[in-house]
Amino acid sequence: MTGAPRERRQLVRFAFYRLDPVFRRLPAAEQRQHKEEFAATISAFAERVLLRSYSLVGVRGDADFMLWQVAEELDTLQALQTALNRTRLGAYLAVPYSYLAMTRRSIYEIRDAEPGHTGLVIRPSQARYLFVYPFVKTREWYALPMGERQAMMEEHIAVGRRFPSIRLNTTYSYGLDDQEFVVAFEGDDPAEFLDLVMALRESQASRYTLRDTPTFSCIQMPIADMLDALGGEAMGADAAPAPRADGLVAACALRDLPPGASRRVVARGEVVAVFNVGGRVFAIGNRCTHARASLADGTVDAATAVVTCPWHAGRFELATGRAIDGPPKAAVPVYPVRIEDGTVLLGVPEMTVAD
Ligand code: FES
Repeated sequence: MTGAPRERRQLVRFAFYRLDPVFRRLPAAEQRQHKEEFAATISAFAERVLLRSYSLVGVRGDADFMLWQVAEELDTLQALQTALNRTRLGAYLAVPYSYLAMTRRSIYEIRDAEPGHTGLVIRPSQARYLFVYPFVKTREWYALPMGERQAMMEEHIAVGRRFPSIRLNTTYSYGLDDQEFVVAFEGDDPAEFLDLVMALRESQASRYTLRDTPTFSCIQMPIADMLDALGGEAMGADAAPAPRADGLVAACALRDLPPGASRRVVARGEVVAVFNVGGRVFAIGNRCTHARASLADGTVDAATAVVTCPWHAGRFELATGRAIDGPPKAAVPVYPVRIEDGTVLLGVPEMTVAD
C-alpha cells in the first residue's frame, strides 16, 4: 500500500553554545585566528544550511550564543556540528542546550494565514530578536475532541494576532527530541513579546501546557559580531594599526582587495566594509542599518556601485552610504579612501574611538 507522496520538510536545530572562559586567556592572535576559523567553517556550509547567528551574552548566564540551523537532511546538521567540533574554538565550547525539530503543516485550520505560509519552509524575517523555548502539552490535551482543540487554538491564534509585530515559527519534535515543539518568536521589541506571552497565559489552551521552559532571548547579529561579543581579540583586529600623523588608518593591502572583492576591516575601533569596484575602492560602515547584517558579505552591482545586504536585500550606494531600497531607512557612514604605496588608507574620524 502506498500513501500520498510525503511533503518535504526541513530539519531545524537550535544549538546553544557556552564558551569556556579559558579561551579569553589565550594569546590575542590565537583568539582571533580561532574565531576566523570558526566563522569560515560555518560559511563553508552556506549552501547546505540556512543559518542565523544570535548572541546571548549579557542575556543568560548559561549560554553565550545560538546558531539557528535549517537543513534538508539530518546528516547535514550532524556534519556541521562535527566540523565545528573540529575547529580550535570548538575545543572551548560546550553545548548546554540543543533542540532538534522539523517543519510540518499544522493539523489545525488556520484562517487568514500569512500568504504562502505552509509551515514547511523556514524563512527567517528581519527581526532583531528571537525568543525560543521548547514546548510540551499535557496528555489531557490529546484526549480532547478535535473540535474543542480547534476552538482553543483559534482563541490562541486570535491573541497572537493582537501582536502583529511578533512572528511565530512553530517546529515539531515528536519522537525526535524530548519536547513536542520548539517555538521561536521573531520580533523587534522584547516588551511586545512579554505582553504577548502574558496574554497567552489567560487563554484556554494554556491550561494544557506541561512545560515551556527554558526560555531564551536571542539577539540577532552577524557571525563575526557574535564571536566578538564573546570577548577576546576582535576579528580583523590586525588590520587596525595606529593612525598616521595625517589621521589616515591603514586598512589592508590593495593586493588583498582585488577588483570585485570586499572585506571587513577594523579601523579606529570601527568595523568597516571595503569594496574594490572595478579598481575604485569604497569604504562604508559594515553594519546594515536594518538588522545589522555584515555588508561586506553583500553583493555589489559594479555598474551602479550599489551593495545589496545579504539578509533582506536592502541596498546602499557605496559612494554616499544612502539606503536606496528595501527595509533599511538610515544611511551607513562613508569613509574617505586613499591608496598609497599599495595600501588602502581610510579616514575614519578619531571621535569614534572608544565610543
Ligand atoms: S539586515 Fe535587513 S536589509 Fe540588511
